[in-house]
Amino acid sequence: MTHPPPTSRDRSESPQLNALAERIDSAIAASLAARPLGSALDDALAYAPLGAGKRLRPALVLLSARACGAAEEIALPAAVAIELVHCFSLVHDDLPAMDDDDLRRGRPTLHIRSGEATALLAGDALLVRAFGVLAAAPLPGDVTARLCHELAEATTHMIEGQMLDTVGGVPAHLPPAEQLRLIHGGKTGALIRAACRMGGIAAGAGEEAIAALDRYGRAVGMLFQVVDDLIDETQTSDHVGKRTGKDRDRGRLTWPGALGLEETRRVIASLLEQAQSAAFELRAASASEDPDQDSAGKAASDLSALARDMASRTR
Ligand code: IPE
Ligand code: IPE
Ligand code: MG
Ligand code: MG
Ligand code: MG
Repeated sequence: MTHPPPTSRDRSESPQLNALAERIDSAIAASLAARPLGSALDDALAYAPLGAGKRLRPALVLLSARACGAAEEIALPAAVAIELVHCFSLVHDDLPAMDDDDLRRGRPTLHIRSGEATALLAGDALLVRAFGVLAAAPLPGDVTARLCHELAEATTHMIEGQMLDTVGGVPAHLPPAEQLRLIHGGKTGALIRAACRMGGIAAGAGEEAIAALDRYGRAVGMLFQVVDDLIDETQTSDHVGKRTGKDRDRGRLTWPGALGLEETRRVIASLLEQAQSAAFELRAASASEDPDQDSAGKAASDLSALARDMASRTR
């Protein structure tokens, strides 16, 4: 079965993301086609990642690699791998036992469309495929091993965050903002931070550049979830393409719920400043290492602009 192509409605408000989305989609489609699993599972496997989604994490991989002076192609397997893990996390996040959501990326969630058992198994298959894609990447063995390690660590951290968010277990003595940092640094921050680091690793970047990418990724990762909470509180389901207004009903700890809208906006502004200053440091760090400064400098500016777009996004 074929799936509808992404419409401009499905895509993000960020020109940086939209410019890379098609290339990323083709690479994802190729990685899924490389190992058929039988029609029902193939169909479910393709439905989740293809056809929509902002592609933030793979775009971060590609821009980070470019900002470290590498050609984008080198980082494409890492970009595909991280998006497949992200899609697995969304499929499972939407299940009745988790957030019980029926709308994702403007379409029925996978379990609504294909049933819970298929959604569970498709999620499992996406996760395994992610590591298969990395293992088959045409990169030196030590780089591949490092990328696998980064992705495994980040995925584990994401799962820990999902556990805290969904089931509980955050130390109650921590102030609310600390509790939020703990939950969100895991469930959302870990993969976004890893996306930036993996771009640098695929590019063979030095430690200084990777450290700047790490700071950028941490700030954008947290910023992204603070804005996600804000969107849940302030936007309509129609506009966003997923159910909104549910965090509060579910009793979830969120930034607007704990700190109010005004303070939430201040947190976003401060994280944006941190991300942009890290992008600036990255530019300085790769200047000494990079023979092709223009393209690397442009990618660092794109990272800065992308952080700004993620801070002001409404879906
Ligand atoms: C949604 O992520 C889940 C969170 C971690 C907040 P995105 O907002 O990046 O979802 P897509 O990939 O664009 O659908
Ligand atoms: C989901 O967080 C994070 C992961 C899928 C790992 P949310 O539950 O807030 O994401 P949405 O709002 O459903 O996209
Ligand atoms: Mg959730
Ligand atoms: Mg959810
Ligand atoms: Mg949310």
